[in-house]
Amino acid sequence: MNFLSLKDVSKSYRQAGQTIQVLTNLNLDVKKAETIAILGQSGSGKSTLLSLLAGLDKPEKGQITINEKAIHNMDEGTLSKFRGKTMGIVFQHFHLMKHLTAWENVALPLRIADQDGAQESASEALKMVALDHRQEHYPYQLSGGEQQRVAIARAFVTKPALILADEPSGNLDQETGNQVMDMLFDMIKEQDMTLILVTHNPALAEQCHRKLSLKSGQLVEGL
Ligand SMILES: Nc1ncnc2c1ncn2[C@@H]1O[C@H](COP(=O)(O)OP(=O)(O)OP(=O)(O)O)[C@@H](O)[C@H]1O
Ligand SMILES: [Mg+2]
Repeated sequence: MNFLSLKDVSKSYRQAGQTIQVLTNLNLDVKKAETIAILGQSGSGKSTLLSLLAGLDKPEKGQITINEKAIHNMDEGTLSKFRGKTMGIVFQHFHLMKHLTAWENVALPLRIADQDGAQESASEALKMVALDHRQEHYPYQLSGGEQQRVAIARAFVTKPALILADEPSGNLDQETGNQVMDMLFDMIKEQDMTLILVTHNPALAEQCHRKLSLKSGQLVEGL
């Protein structure tokens, strides 16, 4: 039984009379606790694919199943609950709430999911990314790399079954990036999480069970 599957998924964008075909009959099957690296040129559709998996956008065609639930035709309310319970998402551009402190940003998913112990769990998650001393700071007071670490803490705080991460170390120097990614892989392994990791970094991709490349709207094995 697959934990996650995409079947014949297509997605295009229409803008100013132009159609950009991004994903074309894309298929993917992922087992529970598998880690998958997605590589591909800029503009090949990696972030688009993650936003479909997160249910933040809908495919025009095809089926997306996660943890035995079909999300391509789920209504918004159900989907948002499902997302909060099942997924942790690290976006390419962090998407932190700018009027919330680092701690409040990390605690937010717990509050939305009505999970107890928000206080402790959020502090713990920030400690994990070595930012426990910056809990009260707002995103604008943090560097890009620090904001990225807050975003990672926020993705992990609910201990979700699935982590979707878009270039999570893209804005970090090599040493910090390696530390953060080691942490991320340790947590994923410890908790049997499934990972879909978008990266341009072949060394990071090597740490995943499978490497796939997005080419001409489809996923192919290898780099
Ligand atoms: N909302 C949108 N409207 C129109 N076109 C879009 C939209 N979002 C993405 N695209 C286009 O879809 C294609 C795929 O974009 P996407 O962001 O998925 O690429 P990517 O592989 O993540 O690239 P990168 O490595 O640069 O982050 C690009 O050509 C992009 O311009
Ligand atoms: Mg992208």
